[in-house]
Amino acid sequence: MTCNIAINGFFGRMGQSIHAESMTHDSANITLGCDIEEKIQNHQNIDGVILTSDITSSDKSFDVVIDFSLPKPSINTINACVTIKKPMTIGTTGFDDKQLSVIKEASKTIPILLAPNMSQGVNVSLKSLESMSKVLKGYDVLIKEVHHVNKIDSPSGTAIKMAQVICKGLGIELGDVHSEECPVKFESLRENTEIGTHEVIFTSDSDSIHVKHLAKNRSIFAKGAIETSIWVSNQKPGLYSYLDYMDDAS
Ligand SMILES: NC(=O)c1ccc[n+]([C@@H]2O[C@H](COP(=O)([O-])OP(=O)(O)OC[C@H]3O[C@@H](n4cnc5c(N)ncnc54)[C@H](O)[C@@H]3O)[C@@H](O)[C@H]2O)c1
Repeated sequence: MTCNIAINGFFGRMGQSIHAESMTHDSANITLGCDIEEKIQNHQNIDGVILTSDITSSDKSFDVVIDFSLPKPSINTINACVTIKKPMTIGTTGFDDKQLSVIKEASKTIPILLAPNMSQGVNVSLKSLESMSKVLKGYDVLIKEVHHVNKIDSPSGTAIKMAQVICKGLGIELGDVHSEECPVKFESLRENTEIGTHEVIFTSDSDSIHVKHLAKNRSIFAKGAIETSIWVSNQKPGLYSYLDYMDDAS
């Protein structure tokens, strides 16, 4: 059965990648593209895609929403999806604690999959990092991340997620990632068109261990967004991660 998908942030880098990726996907069809009014007005019609700045305007046209926008519009879309009872996959990063609690509350009504990184490679690395950190107690941990110059949040959502699983493995709290006291150190670089590289370095006096993921293009995230959106559209209300999808699908 084909899953009809709406994209919030349609004209963005990820929105366009997901639309392109959907052409190679038999069971996914992008039926609605939502973005700011200015962008909707400046673009020509796209075959089979309703273009709108109001996601609720044609809610019969889609089964699930994929959101890659900004925290504030993402929260507005989550509230809209609660009203129209549509499941969501959220790839947007940079939510603060208050926004995260809105997402948690919304997930009591609709199924939501929230993943700061939709690539299988990074999510497999997360599993490895948690088990490595259980053994590598006493090692210093540094996470280096490089992204394109237009990325707003820093450290990246993926770097924070990596730090969270490492702290879980160590049995400690991550705390404020911007504080000097944070048990994990971060280095964030913004370079030209870099898609996204993450490197975790565990260091002791005697050795260092490096776990590195380098995204060569956005199609890995787009593929993950489409696959998780199909999956989440069949779940009951709740807050899911990419790992929940991965564990269920394998
Ligand atoms: N989870 C992942 O795997 C992953 C991968 C890449 C990027 N991201 C995150 O996804 C988000 C988007 O990234 P991007 O590179 O596509 O950004 P982008 O700036 O290229 O695209 C964002 C889009 O959202 C649109 N937008 C802004 N306000 C809106 C509103 N009110 N309603 C609807 N649309 C609105 C913008 O016009 C733009 O087209 C960022 O938070 C980024 O960190 C996550």
